[in-house]
Amino acid sequence: MRLTAELHCHIEGAAPPQLVRRLAMRRGVDVEGLFTANGSYAWSDFTTFLTAYDRAAAVFREPEDYAALAYAHYAGAAREGMIYGEIFISPDHAASAGLSFESYVEGIAAGMEQAKAETGVEGRMIAVGVRHLGREAVTRAARTMIDHPHPLITGFGLAGDERQGAATDFARAFAMAREAGYGLTAHAGEFGGPDSIRDALDHLGVTRIGHGVRAVEDAELMRRLAAEKVVLEVCPGSNIALGLYPDRVSHPVGRLRRAGIPVTINSDDPPFFATTLARDYDETALAQNWDASVVKDLTRTALCAAFCDEDTRVRLLARLDETHPS
Ligand code: ADE
Ligand code: ZN
Repeated sequence: MRLTAELHCHIEGAAPPQLVRRLAMRRGVDVEGLFTANGSYAWSDFTTFLTAYDRAAAVFREPEDYAALAYAHYAGAAREGMIYGEIFISPDHAASAGLSFESYVEGIAAGMEQAKAETGVEGRMIAVGVRHLGREAVTRAARTMIDHPHPLITGFGLAGDERQGAATDFARAFAMAREAGYGLTAHAGEFGGPDSIRDALDHLGVTRIGHGVRAVEDAELMRRLAAEKVVLEVCPGSNIALGLYPDRVSHPVGRLRRAGIPVTINSDDPPFFATTLARDYDETALAQNWDASVVKDLTRTALCAAFCDEDTRVRLLARLDETHPS
């Protein structure tokens, strides 16, 4: 089986609908209208997706709820070949559910450890600020993360509605996280154009960009991303589900890769977008005519850009080479 690695997946966005239903019953949370008749999440555009995401997140009220979610995510992905996965965690979603940041993180870490014990899958967490909650909220998210360090939290990021706020609003939060030694990434170039990517690079000091696909609209920016080796966390299934591109054949990931930009493949919010990491790898490879050596290269690129310690990186790269000798 081909091995995969992931840098961009929101833990609340990875919640299986059945788990959300079960917890909603147990915790007495109203989920009326959250699901379609066939049991998938109901949403129709980016705005209604973000609302559905928040509603699904709201059923996770106890550390053991998050442990069950993290276990389901990691064990499920590992069964399909994932050897390393980073997840976005959100101090704001924890607070909205009435959980302290520490118990939220402890719950998630417990689920990750159980999945690792059973499958060997490695993981790390990236705390994110939610852009549409504004500058103060994002600064507070960075402060919360810095004040509650955990060995599995290794990065800071920015998620939420890219159409709101300016990158400069979040410069202080990113400066704090950088100063404290965290890896940095931000969503940009998904619903914002090339300028949004440039602003994230110039004002937030990120080494990776969440999505970044709209760089394809700007040749100069593509040259910059290639020259500076900025890693794109590309999420093809998510982009197609949200209507950015019609299908995997016309998706720009191949053009970005051919321009020399380090690209990775990621699932973003898999059950919301009817995808999994394995499906995103396999279906994108099929549509883009990528052979096994390209697929191995995608996994290698993700491991090289991972926000993990060097020992872990070396061990995972060796595992990749043993399974796929070239
Ligand atoms: N939060 C969860 N999924 C997201 C996405 N695709 N873009 C921005 N924020 C998100
Ligand atoms: Zn995302």
